[in-house]
Amino acid sequence: MSQETVTIIDNTTGKRVELPIVRGTQGPAGIDVRTLNRELGLLTFDPGFLSTAHCRSALTFIDGEQGVLLYRGYPIEQLAAQSSYLEVCYLLLYGDLPTKPQMREFQSIILHHTMVHEGLRRFYSGFRHDAHPMAIMVGVVGALSAFYHDSTDIHDPRHREISAHRLIAKMPTIAADSYKYSIGQPFIYPDNALGYAENFLRTMFAVPAEPYKVKPAAARALELFLILHADHEQNASTATVRLAGSSGANPFACISAGIGALWGPAHGGANEAVIRMLETIRDPAEIPQYITRAKDKDDAFRLMGFGHRIYKQYDPRAKILRQACHDLLKEIGAEHQPLFETALELERIALQDDYFLERRLYPNVDFYSGIILKAIGIPIPMFTVLFAMARTVGWVAQWMEMMEDAEQRIGRPRQIYVGPARRDYMPLEERE
Ligand code: CMC
Repeated sequence: MSQETVTIIDNTTGKRVELPIVRGTQGPAGIDVRTLNRELGLLTFDPGFLSTAHCRSALTFIDGEQGVLLYRGYPIEQLAAQSSYLEVCYLLLYGDLPTKPQMREFQSIILHHTMVHEGLRRFYSGFRHDAHPMAIMVGVVGALSAFYHDSTDIHDPRHREISAHRLIAKMPTIAADSYKYSIGQPFIYPDNALGYAENFLRTMFAVPAEPYKVKPAAARALELFLILHADHEQNASTATVRLAGSSGANPFACISAGIGALWGPAHGGANEAVIRMLETIRDPAEIPQYITRAKDKDDAFRLMGFGHRIYKQYDPRAKILRQACHDLLKEIGAEHQPLFETALELERIALQDDYFLERRLYPNVDFYSGIILKAIGIPIPMFTVLFAMARTVGWVAQWMEMMEDAEQRIGRPRQIYVGPARRDYMPLEERE
């Protein structure tokens, strides 16, 4: 089959260029514009990357029209119902589901590298006691490169793998420590006999003075949260990790950059913002006022947890989480949890409103996730930290994929310059 192309004609100069079309296994094809500037002296202009694919990737596929999400080809619904977070980590890192011996080995590596360097723990005391745990995460994860520099040769595949294992294994400890520091409790050492989610819950909630038993319902809910947040193709934080990595920065610095990008309320920070919004709505009767505010262009308020760049129908992760809220709240005897009832009512009213229907704004992953986290006792400022913990595998798997990509070059976007044209400097005394 001959190469499919698109012809671009510059109507001002009459010059033309034929550009190849790049196809993946599914999803929209792309136009390879790499020669455009050389041939026509033109750039593409795409603020927010609405029409720009910045890499080829074999990790995650999203069909926003159909509400489909696949990790390495496996539907998120099947993974959520049948897999475990560590199995999903293996799948994302290595491309296939593990065999039993592979799973045993991977689990053993991750669960036996949970401790962090003691020197790293002293870092925390430099932060204000009331620092947001995301601020602590950005600093401490970036500092990992100062402690684990024996594995930062990014051109050595084994070093890359060791860094990936370290990040996945240590992130729960770093996250729990950031919480312990903020409430003035001693850090708890991980217990490597426990599973990934159980270990995190214990490190987060246990105190040395008392025995602590992980609640199975909480561990199951957290496991689900981790699976659903593990990767999501080229979102803002993942693109940040790739961009930072494209300069040759070490993986710990790249993940720290990703955590910074995730923090914003338009991205991962939305899970915290949703609960704060639901808590502000004291009575479901107030919901129409909030809907009116969300529609008002002169009001900065947006319905948090609603809308998505790619999904133009219900986010499949939100669908799973809404059902999980029902199940978990029933199991712990909190069926009529007011925040969940407010969220359901908010969704019901919004999805009858032309504003949301016309713009195809539906609940996204952050709309129901906070209700689950709150129900298992996670404090609100930790919500985005848990998102970062879950997404670490996605970030690092994307970084590893990029490092193996022969097409990879330093990420260097261009601009359309709109500032003043060349002008001459005038000495201060001559200026009016
Ligand atoms: N409430 C009210 N109006 C909205 C909302 C919302 N949540 N989201 C989008 N719109 C409107 C927006 O004002 C615009 O209207 P118009 O066409 O009249 O100007 C239209 O819908 C399209 O929105 P956009 O801002 O151009 O869409 P985008 O793709 O640039 O932004 C988004 C996507 C997720 C940032 C946005 O929907 C939003 O701010 N949502 C609330 C924050 C949120 O829940 N973020 C989590 C995203 S999913 C998980 C993650 O990434 O972490």
